[in-house]
Amino acid sequence: MAVKSIKQRMIGFILGVCMLMLEGCSKTPGGDQYPYSGNGWWKSAVAYEIYVKSFCDSDGDGVGDLNGITSKLDHLKELGAGAIWLTPCYVSPQADNGYDIADYYNIDPAYGTMDDMERLIKEAGDRDIRIVMDLVFNHTSVENEWFRESRSGKDNDKSDWYIWEDPKPDGSAPTNWRSIFGGSAWEYDETRGQYYLHTFLPEQPDLNWANPEVRKALQDIAGFWIDKGVGGFRLDAITYIKKPEVFEDGKPDASDGMAGIHAMTANTEGILDYLHEFKANVQEGTDIFTVGEANGVSPSDLKNWIGKDGVFDMVFEFGLVNIDLPDESNWCRRREWKLSEFKSFFSENLEDSDEAGGWFPVFLENHDQPRSIDHFMPGDGDRIAKGKALAVLLLTMRGTPFIMQGEELGYVNVDWPDIDDYNDISTKNHYSFALEEGYTEEEAMDGVHHFARDSARTPMQWDDSANAGFTTGDPWLPVYPDYQIFNRSSEKKDPDSVLSYYIRLAGLRREHSELSEGSYEDIMPDDECIFAYTREHSGKKATILINFTGSEVRYDADLVKDAVCLTDSAGEDRPGVLSPFEAVIYESGE
Ligand code: GLC
Repeated sequence: MAVKSIKQRMIGFILGVCMLMLEGCSKTPGGDQYPYSGNGWWKSAVAYEIYVKSFCDSDGDGVGDLNGITSKLDHLKELGAGAIWLTPCYVSPQADNGYDIADYYNIDPAYGTMDDMERLIKEAGDRDIRIVMDLVFNHTSVENEWFRESRSGKDNDKSDWYIWEDPKPDGSAPTNWRSIFGGSAWEYDETRGQYYLHTFLPEQPDLNWANPEVRKALQDIAGFWIDKGVGGFRLDAITYIKKPEVFEDGKPDASDGMAGIHAMTANTEGILDYLHEFKANVQEGTDIFTVGEANGVSPSDLKNWIGKDGVFDMVFEFGLVNIDLPDESNWCRRREWKLSEFKSFFSENLEDSDEAGGWFPVFLENHDQPRSIDHFMPGDGDRIAKGKALAVLLLTMRGTPFIMQGEELGYVNVDWPDIDDYNDISTKNHYSFALEEGYTEEEAMDGVHHFARDSARTPMQWDDSANAGFTTGDPWLPVYPDYQIFNRSSEKKDPDSVLSYYIRLAGLRREHSELSEGSYEDIMPDDECIFAYTREHSGKKATILINFTGSEVRYDADLVKDAVCLTDSAGEDRPGVLSPFEAVIYESGE
């Protein structure tokens, strides 16, 4: 099965020649911007996630768009971004804000045109920034032509492109599986007299990857975007693509008698065969990078997913973001966690990624997660200090940092009082599920305040003008009221802001190669207050210490003896002492 276009093959050939010429040289094809001495331009890049709908609206319709992004590229450049991950901007009815795609080959008119996309790719490229597209390949929208045809009867060319099953003898759904967004994972279709499977919303029917025509069609889409000049892909919900051979009820895990679909279909036997085929037909011979959203892949399984023998360059593993959530379907069952557990997430993932010869994407937030200040440094305390401390972690951990838009401005969670104030459908479903499970209204809203995806999706706050300079129209989601203080323009002028600190850290990361390339060692794994680690490279050692508590804490000052303080988030530099939520970076060596 050959899907690479002539242009792709030529790029592959030219790249091969370039790689030969570069052998023995310490620069990768990315040029000076990406000084990482191992292969892969993305290893030393900072990646920035844009929630397209909320970033910048250029035409006043209240919805962010591609031209808005192009107009803000210099902001991203200042943060050292080498890659921008765009959430889906293809034609979509927006049941899940674009993660329900009706046409993979065109841009949704709300976001602009293909010309706008080509201009964005070009202008970003001029600044050494590559565009990473979100490939939503586990499912499509119900409005996708493929699904329309498939549901039109049992006898059409695409009848087997989705997962269709007969009802049980009593007419009920084929299995008791609960979708990730709540309710049955099966939807009945009158015309076919069958149910189709949807891991997420009923508007997001799952594709049948067992059908080689489906796989070929998806590879063609990726090839189309590579030809447009994108630099990489994020593979959405990719661990769910392989369904079991037989559909059977699972053990109920809640009072609704259902079993969460995650336990039934995530990372099942045989999934990697499909993904190896995708890698061989799409990725090999190009310099695009891939990152899979890999809920259900544990650190010990990383060797099969990343590196030379794996299928992607990196995967987003979920251990850290779920540290307080033992059961993703129940937002009311939060658990207390210890800093030592938080640290072991990094140690385990880094060890297993390195062993696999793969790479690690560092992320504390994304468009599905709460804001990290509230998530990982909850409770009282100065939010600016917390934002800076987490910035140190994000930008000095070994791996490629992914900044979620707004994280660099120190955003916190929204705390809207009423469930009707929220937009995200999964948030509404989690709320209803909590009430059905017998939690009180207050408990259900507490879960919403902690985990609502809207917190990561409010409009970007550019300045203190109306609607934070995001739009001249009515924003599709309310701008957070703190925008008069926390906005790009004010923070840029304030040397003590979270944004100024991000810019400073991005510069340090560029100037001190140990911060991007260095080895990683957790030097105080059992300490429950301080996260302390070293990064070593080319005779230099950086020692990073972050106080995760709201109290002053002490550590052995000998750890940083004879070292120079590169930065101190509190501006104090007191070796051996950290004030509340303070982070420091020391450097020693020749
Ligand atoms: C992924 C996306 C999320 C989306 C879901 C369904 O988890 O990150 O936003 O709702 O897939 O596509």
